[in-house]
Amino acid sequence: MKVRHEMNEEDTQQLIKLFHTQHNTILDEWLNVVAISENDPFYEEVINNGGHTIRLITTYLKDPETPMIQNLTKKVARERIEAQVDIGEFITNINMGRSIVYRVLNKSDVPQDKQLKFLLMINDFFDLYMYHAVTEYSNLKDSIIQKKSRFIQEMHSDRLSILGQIAASFAHEFRNPLTSIKGFIQLIEMETPKDGEVASYFKIINREMESLQEKISQFLYLSKMKGIDDESESFSLTEVIRNMLAFLYPRFVDEHITIDSDINGQLTMFGVEEQLKQVVLNILNNAVEELSETDGDRVIHVSLTNNGSELFLKITNSGSKIPEHLLEDIFEPFISTKQLGTGLGLSVCKQIVEKHRGMIQVDSTEKETSFLMTFPLAEAKGIY
Ligand SMILES: Nc1ncnc2c1ncn2[C@@H]1O[C@H](COP(=O)(O)OP(=O)(O)O)[C@@H](O)[C@H]1O
Ligand SMILES: [Mg+2]
Repeated sequence: MKVRHEMNEEDTQQLIKLFHTQHNTILDEWLNVVAISENDPFYEEVINNGGHTIRLITTYLKDPETPMIQNLTKKVARERIEAQVDIGEFITNINMGRSIVYRVLNKSDVPQDKQLKFLLMINDFFDLYMYHAVTEYSNLKDSIIQKKSRFIQEMHSDRLSILGQIAASFAHEFRNPLTSIKGFIQLIEMETPKDGEVASYFKIINREMESLQEKISQFLYLSKMKGIDDESESFSLTEVIRNMLAFLYPRFVDEHITIDSDINGQLTMFGVEEQLKQVVLNILNNAVEELSETDGDRVIHVSLTNNGSELFLKITNSGSKIPEHLLEDIFEPFISTKQLGTGLGLSVCKQIVEKHRGMIQVDSTEKETSFLMTFPLAEAKGIY
């Protein structure tokens, strides 16, 4: 802060006396001009605070270090916030006090040359008062805003976790009956002549069953109720990707999608192979779903590279840009733009990737969308 002005004892006493005699004049004038709403819950306190402030000037003249300034500004700031007075009005009211004090000094019988000295002292006081008042006011406001946003965040994640729990218990309830339905359907299928019309229904039934099972395992992943064995081991991520591309090959052909892959050698990582399959599958599924809506080129590019300590898996598909607002929340559960989408695919990916000490990012341009994942190489498994 700037250098304070000094006064001798005699001047100090003279100025203190001036404030004593003019106390009521200053206060009345200030109350006349100041904006206090009739509904202000601290109406009476505003009058008290005004009086305290004037007395505080004399305290300050005797002891410029007085902690009472901070005590008073703390109280005033708290009340003004509770009264919902904005910071502009708050500052204006303090400055009006400053002008009234100047005016009173100007009209007094203090000689001109001394007036200037006194004015500088009074100015110092108001600067300090303003500094503390504004600091208190903005600190309080900040902490209120922080509390509110924490509250909103907690509500949001509470809801998400309740939603997740409901989804998980449903998924759990569905899994067992589904398994037995699947078993019995297989038995009926074996009893059915292979060349009849009915035989073709089984293809559809089995595909739908698989899709249901896949959705259920996504829900279970999300709720951390493991659907799949959790044993960690070293495995070839290269093989996982090759197998998944081969598995989806019929779909690529159906949708006229070209695959361009750059996955040479054998890159191994440490973790749960089944879970990594799920990640690759979810991202390829999204790519296929996006491309099936695209009129332009239909290309998926998969590349797996390393830098000696990390693996980089990048899956890119041509197609239109994902809007910014969606990009922000794309890894959150239940975010979907698809009519029958669950919005779980990418949130499951994120969960699995992070469990494997990896990172997942999305990058979307007018021409293409990429999902980039980084994992530690198997050799670096000590950190897993
Ligand atoms: N490759 C992609 N291209 C364009 N949009 C995508 C792509 N991948 C994901 N999205 C968008 O992200 C949303 C969330 O994906 P996801 O979590 O897998 O849920 P779902 O596929 O069930 O909608 C999708 O609905 C889609 O809008
Ligand atoms: Mg999906």
